[in-house]
Amino acid sequence: MDIVLIGSGNVATVLGRKSVASGHHIVQVYSRNQDHANALAIRLGTSSTSYISSISKKADLFIMALRDEALRFFLKDFGKINALAVHTAGAVSISELKDTSPSYGVLYPLQSLRKELEIIPALSILVDGNNAQTKSLIRRFAATISETVLEADDTSRMKYHLAATIVNNFSNYLFTMAASFCEKENISFAALQPLIEETVMRLRNTSAAAAQTGPAIRNDQSTIRLHQGLLTEYPAILKFYNLFTDEIQKYALSVKP
Ligand SMILES: NC(=O)c1ccc[n+]([C@@H]2O[C@H](COP(=O)([O-])OP(=O)(O)OC[C@H]3O[C@@H](n4cnc5c(N)ncnc54)[C@H](OP(=O)(O)O)[C@@H]3O)[C@@H](O)[C@H]2O)c1
Repeated sequence: MDIVLIGSGNVATVLGRKSVASGHHIVQVYSRNQDHANALAIRLGTSSTSYISSISKKADLFIMALRDEALRFFLKDFGKINALAVHTAGAVSISELKDTSPSYGVLYPLQSLRKELEIIPALSILVDGNNAQTKSLIRRFAATISETVLEADDTSRMKYHLAATIVNNFSNYLFTMAASFCEKENISFAALQPLIEETVMRLRNTSAAAAQTGPAIRNDQSTIRLHQGLLTEYPAILKFYNLFTDEIQKYALSVKP
């Protein structure tokens, strides 16, 4: 497909690289900052612009990977096209594109992306389209750059977005707290890396509920008290510790045969 990339950030970079690697042609990169547009265009072997009026209309697909709050303003200035137009946001309705093209939809990568990534991780992509034909076109394109393509309307996409926030952003914040505790207590956070990896790898064949281990699920009160004692100087971590311990124990009781 001939593609125009709108945006030069994390998602535009990763989708652009994936598209080129799959044999698609990037016609042009647009970004409001010319240096950013140019940097990505050079990387993808194409041209760039920072003028909305100079965006090429000769493409099959326009991928709009802008910051959520910038998309609406961009679309107002961009006007109408006849080609397929998609945005990449988890929390923005498909209908934002209804006045842009007769064929529009969503191409939402369910992955945490950084433009600096050397190796692009596996991506699940959630797709939506304003009619069956558009949905099928977007689905077929998505399948060329992603191993897993799922259809999701606004409501389902929002639910995936929320689940993604829990598994990625919240678990990462737990790592941040653990790392800060390790640093202050002069122990090695790096020593926990194999455990972190095993915790995630185990989910490939076991449900998260079945994989739960630790003093809370065992109702090991003496270890819980020792941990709480170690956290007296860390009230924020203690708050999480007590909340998780209570919730894990409540869950264990609720599923007990
Ligand atoms: N990153 C992820 O992991 C991820 C995953 C799935 C979906 N998404 C979604 O994909 C979209 C893009 O995310 P991203 O991570 O690629 O964002 P990003 O790296 O912050 O890039 C944002 C792009 O938006 C442009 N931009 C920012 N503010 C603007 C404004 N006021 N007017 C015009 N352009 C503006 C930037 O242009 P300049 O650099 O030229 O200023 C840049 O090209 C968002 O909807 C995000 O929710 C992100």
